[in-house]
Amino acid sequence: MNWRNGLKIKTEQKKSLHNYTTFKIGGRPKYFFEPKDINELKLLVSLSKKYKTPILVLGAGSNILASDKGVDALVVRLNSPSFKWMKFENTFIKIGSGIMLNRVVSAAKRRGLSGAEFLAGIPGTVGGALVMNAGVSEKVKGKRPKARGIGDIVQAATVMDGDGGIKTLHKNEMKFGYRRSNLSEYIILSACIKLLKKNGLTIVNKINKYLDYRRISQDSSYPSAGCIFKNPVGFSAGQLIDLCGLKGRQIGGACISRKHANFILNTAGAKARDVFALMDLMQKEVKNKFNITLEPEIKIWR
Ligand code: EPU
Repeated sequence: MNWRNGLKIKTEQKKSLHNYTTFKIGGRPKYFFEPKDINELKLLVSLSKKYKTPILVLGAGSNILASDKGVDALVVRLNSPSFKWMKFENTFIKIGSGIMLNRVVSAAKRRGLSGAEFLAGIPGTVGGALVMNAGVSEKVKGKRPKARGIGDIVQAATVMDGDGGIKTLHKNEMKFGYRRSNLSEYIILSACIKLLKKNGLTIVNKINKYLDYRRISQDSSYPSAGCIFKNPVGFSAGQLIDLCGLKGRQIGGACISRKHANFILNTAGAKARDVFALMDLMQKEVKNKFNITLEPEIKIWR
């Protein structure tokens, strides 16, 4: 495909995905672009269609396991100011999809707005979080943990479709489930979330509660992609893997965390193939012991 033909878009064909994923794993994509605005993004969408090369949108790269050989795709990173802005209107925040969730949490805190605290510490962008309905699992005494996701607070999202058309989807047109949404077929440009006015101290305390729980229960000692598998209904994937005695198991440069068994750590220049081998082992052992099939939560780019 001749991308240079009349194109002013900056091409970055030499970028390896290990520089852009929190796992620090992944080879070079076929093409890598950081469009400067929506028009450039539109052009990329039309080229991807013309040359039948899929577009993969890279957010914070925190939920991706990319192949060592790279990916046969056009990777797009929405990192320019056109995709990284925030606007406040009373208790609503309009946000560009390239903004990190932690920035949204801090900005809401400064304005005394509550409702986004549960997003504190999730290492994702607004766009990535919406596609997979990123969130937390809240413990409710005597009941099953309840999943909360960014979908709970989103009022609208402006998206680009596969033909470069732009539309705004309202709350009733968006569907969110556990780690999934119907926004995955679009490129998300921006979103609007609705919060509530609250006392500043209450907001700070809530944020600290979420951050403390992450610090206590999760492993940030080495690069990782967070939880590898989704929680099967009624179970915790981490607990099931733990009960199989797999904590600390190492293959190549990848190791199952001793702190949280649903985390794989890149402890020593891990390759994607090391992680795939560990994932395979985790799935097989959990299937053998509990007859439960673990489904990956991370996105696999091959
Ligand atoms: N547990 C173990 N051994 C382990 C890990 C966990 O016994 O090695 C037990 C814990 O003691 C607890 C239960 O399993 O009783 C659940 O563990 P935890 O509270 O850590 O929550 P989780 O279900 O493993 C979910 C989300 C996390 C999110 C946390 C906190 C999924 C797959 N994971 O984890 O999200 O941060 O709740 O809300 O839904 C992610 O999406 O990448 C992620 C890390």
